[in-house]
Amino acid sequence: MSNAHVVIDPRFPVGPVNRRLFGSFVEHLGRCVHQGLYEPTHPLADADGFRADVLALVQELGVTTVRYPGGNFVSGYRWEDGVGPRSARPRRLDLAWHSVETNEVGLDEFARWCRRAGVELMYAVNLGTRGLEEALDVLEYANITSGTTLSDRRVANGTPEPHGIRMWCLGNEMDCDWQLGYRSAEDYGALAGRTAKGMLQLDPGLELVVCGSSGSGTPTFGSWERTVLRHTYDDVSHISCHAYYQLHGDDLGSFLASAVDMDFFIDSVVATADAVKAELKRDKTIQISFDEWNIWYLEEHQATKDQTERWQVAPRLLEDRYTVADAVVFGSLLISLLKHADRVTAASVAQLVNVIAPIMTEPGGPSWRQTTFFPFALTSRLARGVTLATTVEVDTYPTARHGSAPLVDATATYDEDTGRTSVFLVNRAQDAQTTVTIDIAGFGELTVGECQGVHDSDVRAVNDLENPTRVGPTVNSTVRVDGGIVTLELPPVSWTVLTLER
Ligand code: AHR
Repeated sequence: MSNAHVVIDPRFPVGPVNRRLFGSFVEHLGRCVHQGLYEPTHPLADADGFRADVLALVQELGVTTVRYPGGNFVSGYRWEDGVGPRSARPRRLDLAWHSVETNEVGLDEFARWCRRAGVELMYAVNLGTRGLEEALDVLEYANITSGTTLSDRRVANGTPEPHGIRMWCLGNEMDCDWQLGYRSAEDYGALAGRTAKGMLQLDPGLELVVCGSSGSGTPTFGSWERTVLRHTYDDVSHISCHAYYQLHGDDLGSFLASAVDMDFFIDSVVATADAVKAELKRDKTIQISFDEWNIWYLEEHQATKDQTERWQVAPRLLEDRYTVADAVVFGSLLISLLKHADRVTAASVAQLVNVIAPIMTEPGGPSWRQTTFFPFALTSRLARGVTLATTVEVDTYPTARHGSAPLVDATATYDEDTGRTSVFLVNRAQDAQTTVTIDIAGFGELTVGECQGVHDSDVRAVNDLENPTRVGPTVNSTVRVDGGIVTLELPPVSWTVLTLER
């Protein structure tokens, strides 16, 4: 059994928690769109063919933005294939996922779905096989009210009001050779710079996200960000980060410490962006859009991908089933994002439905919550106001992949309007519970609100079609407050959120 001591104080905010931190990602990949969000023959499908049960789960998850339509898919995508009468839309090869795309769902339907879900649409343009002209075309189609050929085409296609998309991604993962049309940092930086300037000529109010590295382990990580930002600094608001983690073999210790790498990734990109700021002598500060993050059993996908039959519509791809341990690590990644709220102002869990997703569906059948659903839904609901600087005194343990890692990590948010403080904690200890004391003397009197989280005696337990509710949030009833100190017990391998009310 170990102990941890946490100190939080409302006088020391890190930065506001942007609601865009609770974004997600929908790519035309596998069964994310087709047979996931969209299944026109399902008994619960609406007039557009979208499943009402999935929409309800998306709302319960608390998703605020959705990045669309890819991902690797976008780098070969022709946006105009997905608009206009469905019967006239072409079927295309999707080279990224070796599938056939029917284009039954495109920008207009997806934007309508976003409005129904109450989420902001974040749109990615293709800078793999295409460039400035197509980016300007889709922007005009989406955002100009009417009176031009492309905006009138949208009106004629049944959408009189412009979509008003504010956030646009300048391509996807352009640094690595799996990307159709990948480029050197110089080439991509120049293209992204030209595209950004053109898009801002059309609408100066846009927020543009330039591609950072596909991961912190890529050969060009760091120099890519520096070069790309030198080309685009004045015209973009965000640079992207992407990171996926998985359990390698039985090295649970390293896996539980994945957020150590996420912290390093964010801190390194912040340092690089600020170095370019100094070099260019600018006042503006670049933000991070962590627009792909999750647990992904990528090694298993790579090992089996050549066995997948090619050129199918909506094949079952990347349908990872998440364990309790995955959900605990997932919750710790949310802690890392929250800790950096001053610089990470948008994030998208990749992805939303069926494809490495918190929500699963069966065609003609049910939908259910994966284990990772719970930390996301709880954090989106309870992380409000500002993140507070959080000190954690605790022992560390050695890991093979991430050096020494603290046994407990934590962050806290404070919402002045409601008087609520939420504390998010991960216990990486594998064999014993940890007693945590939290110094809240700086707040005055607080009472305990709710305390729940994810843990299980079987860290491999999952929710699946046969047993969709095996894992759910569990209430922690060990919390007590005494003289400005909160004490609670964290079970081994657990993620927890505690709320304190004024
Ligand atoms: O989310 C799955 C894939 O991961 C995305 O298409 C790509 O951007 C990343 O490599």
